[in-house]
Amino acid sequence: MKRFKNLEEFIHDSWHLLVKAAIKRSGDYQTPVIGTLGDGQAAMRIVVLREVRLQQRQLVFYTDRRSEKMQELEQNARLNWLFWDARKKVQLRMSGECTWHIADGDSRKYWERLPVQGRKSYAAEQPPGTKVETPTEGLPEDWSEDMPLEQTEYAFDNFTVVVCTVDQVQLLHLHGEGHQRAAFEWDGSGWKGSWLIP
Ligand SMILES: Cc1cc2nc3c(=O)[nH]c(=O)nc-3n(C[C@H](O)[C@H](O)[C@H](O)COP(=O)(O)O)c2cc1C
Repeated sequence: MKRFKNLEEFIHDSWHLLVKAAIKRSGDYQTPVIGTLGDGQAAMRIVVLREVRLQQRQLVFYTDRRSEKMQELEQNARLNWLFWDARKKVQLRMSGECTWHIADGDSRKYWERLPVQGRKSYAAEQPPGTKVETPTEGLPEDWSEDMPLEQTEYAFDNFTVVVCTVDQVQLLHLHGEGHQRAAFEWDGSGWKGSWLIP
């Protein structure tokens, strides 16, 4: 990756790298770490970046409504994202406010696109994180990959589409001719950025 010429190019290209990752469904940017505030400490885990809405500055992921991260977001809807691409050597840190869709028209739109295999993550009979005696996914006994899609419908109630509107971005580009770091804030109409010592 070439060094960025100016702040505008840095933020513009970074967002476009995310758009590309979400559309192509490949590359390191597709599996960011997200951080919530849980129990007085940062709680982090990997998710799949499902969609980037460039105009709205929104990042989208799916989860189970019963998961701990949702309980944490209900307490504090602020979400942090960490992206790193080992080849491009650009680290992106983003944060923003979340809203989510559960059992509504919006989540239905995404749900309809998921095959049986994709719905499995929301179909456990007990909430994610429940202690069990043996390693199990906790799916109903008759669950199978070739089951009729209608039979997975009960899991729709757990399926959650989280939408995060980003208002803070920190970028770091590791480069042989000099690392580049910058911070940006959304000021209501555009990104206000400044260079930082890496
Ligand atoms: C590559 C990868 C992708 C994952 N994608 C998701 C995802 O899109 N949504 C999700 O809720 N969990 C996903 N997980 C699982 C989470 O990292 C985490 O273990 C789980 O959601 C429980 O987190 P919580 O207890 O903090 O809610 C993924 C894990 C890995 C390793």
